[in-house]
Amino acid sequence: MSIRSERKEEHLKLAQMFFNKEKYNSFDQLHLLRPALPETKVDPTILGSKMFGQNVSAPFFINAMTGGSAASKQINQALGQVAQQQNIALALGSASILAKETDQLDSFMVARAEDPDGVLIVNVNPETPISAIKQIIQELNADALQIHLNTIQEIAMPEGDRDFRWLDSIKAIRTAIDLPIIIKEVGFGLDQTSIHLLKVNGIEYFDVAGSGGTNFAQIENARNASDVSYLEDLGLPTVVTALMAWQEQVKFFVSGGVRNPLDILKGLALGGKFVGISNVFLQEYIQNGSTGLDQLITNWKNELAALIAVYGKKDLASLVQIKKYYDLPLKAQIDQLL
Ligand code: FNR
Repeated sequence: MSIRSERKEEHLKLAQMFFNKEKYNSFDQLHLLRPALPETKVDPTILGSKMFGQNVSAPFFINAMTGGSAASKQINQALGQVAQQQNIALALGSASILAKETDQLDSFMVARAEDPDGVLIVNVNPETPISAIKQIIQELNADALQIHLNTIQEIAMPEGDRDFRWLDSIKAIRTAIDLPIIIKEVGFGLDQTSIHLLKVNGIEYFDVAGSGGTNFAQIENARNASDVSYLEDLGLPTVVTALMAWQEQVKFFVSGGVRNPLDILKGLALGGKFVGISNVFLQEYIQNGSTGLDQLITNWKNELAALIAVYGKKDLASLVQIKKYYDLPLKAQIDQLL
């Protein structure tokens, strides 16, 4: 196995080891005001949405994780199968490995083979050669491209990148690629200045990927001979980074630490067009297989529809109007940062 594939398999093992479904995060400090008399009826059909022009059945999706190793091939096959059955979007893990190891293409292709018509999103790092990105997009018939920004993860890895001058590469990719481009973090959140800089340089979509769920500083620290655990607290909480994206008036997805349908509702109430879930779905698959994950997603759709009715709303577009209030520690961060 190559060093890159080995790293991917280690990430999978460590993401499982550190998984904590009950982990407290910023969603717990955000509350939505609920009417006692909502005058609504539960209607699961209101969850249908359009993502990049295609119909999907829910305003949430499976966010970027795997690809580029034997274990991740099996996972991508299962995720493709579930995404197809549920008609929800699927983002694959970083395909940058394909620029150097073309034999790993299969580990991504299996998802498209299972889900030929669904919304499939390819993920790369900003320094991936444009020729390789074009090839990956074509091979996978991708509907959108995610570019991940992951400075903290890189410095937590002894073998990681040390040059973070990425804007020119992102601009070049923007010019060369004729697909929607989403800039995402990997669990440390996008700050407002960076969102603004990317917006004025032609980026239309953002995935805030804030802190509160999977922590890549913790994962890399476990792989690192020296102690870099101090990096674990450097993330912007998902609620804060979402409020920043809202202020920038960009189209954005909310992700990072989403644990249940209430967190999804909160992400949508914050103005997210879609909500992304990574490790909670991965661990459900690892524990209960694709049938378990499929059932979980069915349950979440029903529960989300029920919550929307309880909160007095009849469609997804009006969820941003729900009155929000914050616990004081989160309110203090918001007051200082926004
Ligand atoms: C990830 N994530 C990720 N992100 C990305 O942009 N490219 C990638 O290749 C990966 N790889 C990856 C592997 C594994 C095993 C996990 C669990 C996660 C990060 C992911 O997309 C997301 O931003 C974070 O995991 C935070 O979301 P959750 O897990 O808290 O829902």
